[in-house]
Amino acid sequence: MKLSTVLGIDIGTSGTKVVVMSGQGSVLASYTASYPMDVPKPGYAEQHPQDWWQATVEAVRAVIGQVLAQGVDMEVAGISFSGQMHGLVPLDAQGQVIRPSIIWCDLRSVKEAAYLEREIGRAQIITWTQNPPLPNFTLTKLLWMREHEPELFHRIATVLLPKDYVRLQMTGELAMDMSDASGTLLLDVANRKWSREMCDAAGIPFAWLPRLVEANEVAGKLTAEAAQAMGLVAGIPVVAGAADQAAGAVGLGIAEPGVVAAVFGTSGVVLAATAQPQRDPAGRLHTFCHAAPDRWYVMGVTQAAGGSLQWYRRRFAQAAEQAAQSAGKDVYDLLMEQAQSVSPGADGVMFLPYLLGERTPHLDPQATGAWIGLRFHHEAAHLVRAILEGVSYSLKDCYSAMRELGIDATAWRAAGGGANGRVWMDIFASVVGNDVKVLQGAHGPAYGAAILAAQGVQLLSVEESRRLTEGGETVHPRGEWIDRYQKLYPLYGRAYREMKSVMHELVEICE
Ligand code: XUL
Repeated sequence: MKLSTVLGIDIGTSGTKVVVMSGQGSVLASYTASYPMDVPKPGYAEQHPQDWWQATVEAVRAVIGQVLAQGVDMEVAGISFSGQMHGLVPLDAQGQVIRPSIIWCDLRSVKEAAYLEREIGRAQIITWTQNPPLPNFTLTKLLWMREHEPELFHRIATVLLPKDYVRLQMTGELAMDMSDASGTLLLDVANRKWSREMCDAAGIPFAWLPRLVEANEVAGKLTAEAAQAMGLVAGIPVVAGAADQAAGAVGLGIAEPGVVAAVFGTSGVVLAATAQPQRDPAGRLHTFCHAAPDRWYVMGVTQAAGGSLQWYRRRFAQAAEQAAQSAGKDVYDLLMEQAQSVSPGADGVMFLPYLLGERTPHLDPQATGAWIGLRFHHEAAHLVRAILEGVSYSLKDCYSAMRELGIDATAWRAAGGGANGRVWMDIFASVVGNDVKVLQGAHGPAYGAAILAAQGVQLLSVEESRRLTEGGETVHPRGEWIDRYQKLYPLYGRAYREMKSVMHELVEICE
């Protein structure tokens, strides 16, 4: 008898990752196909939807090949997705992409976010959508197109998000799931339907918005053409899938109030599930639909979490790269060793991780990064440790905003590439002063996507899938580190407040 499996496909920022999961939740194969991110100007970030599709085809073919090579006789019972959020994919009436996608970390629409605040008002927008206008969200990117590319804007017939575009290539059907739609600023998140009020007030035709589905609902079937491209059989049910953070939370078992996730991806998030939509009147936290019809989540975002360390590695870590290469090590392991060699507080160096502006709690796209406290004796290791600490403070900022809403963590779960760094987890547990369970086996959002596929085709119930995520290693906070970080965390908040105007003026003068 053939083994029933599902495919979880994560359309990420640096590549598409596909996992093959058995109906019992074990991962049989995984593969990532990379693509570039174009930065045509500072603060811009674009990708080509065709690259997402080609990477998906490559990765699906690769995982199927891996499973066959293991001698496993399998069939694919369902496919689902996780996707980078917010990215604008504008399609014309023929379903063709009108321009490259303006993705989540593109900050060109700062003026459009300010326009919405001025014309409609933050409080009104939060009432309709649960969230404030931010340049990350799809709506402000659309308004930027209206202002700067009116001919292209007027050709739009449909607006999709990255994973919806890939699903369209597979099924020929337009759809968007509730969790991803939450990040457009056009969804009435509380009532799980498009907000006509928000569309009318912003001047966006309602007809551009696709059919809404829940994340674990079947949204179409694999067409013969797509099946041939990927080496699969036609007709496989394709389940809608979810926003990467929602899918990641499914993979971490974050469904009940109390268990809080800290994700150390390119961006970092602190995320808690809620049984009702719970909004932050100050708009610092996002309130989005979760990947189950009766759940929402609250999330704070650090724009550059792992992204800060990736930036450091690319720009400044040539010596570490070479040392790692000659020692046959991963360069990130070496950076972690460097950080481990420095005491908490990095001997007075502090890092503000605002390389891509900051969302929670500042909502300030013009915030910029900084190392402060530098002195002559500081070395590369201090800068690295300061990055790990600064990102941890920023994630604590997210949690502090949540606590103001009455959301308390009874347990922490950490995941994402950065959670592989043991010293980073020691730092984070000490900064939040709690035990943190590190769930690394979980393959990130692609695993959550596979669980959604299994739910969608009834291979797993929601209850059964929550049980898959038990296990993991618990990291305890360190007594002496806790004291040090309790003293430093307030300084971290002050550093931003006191330097904010300098950051903004620097951007204005020099760009
Ligand atoms: C969430 C967010 C990022 C992207 C990219 O609001 O912007 O997590 O989804 O991963």
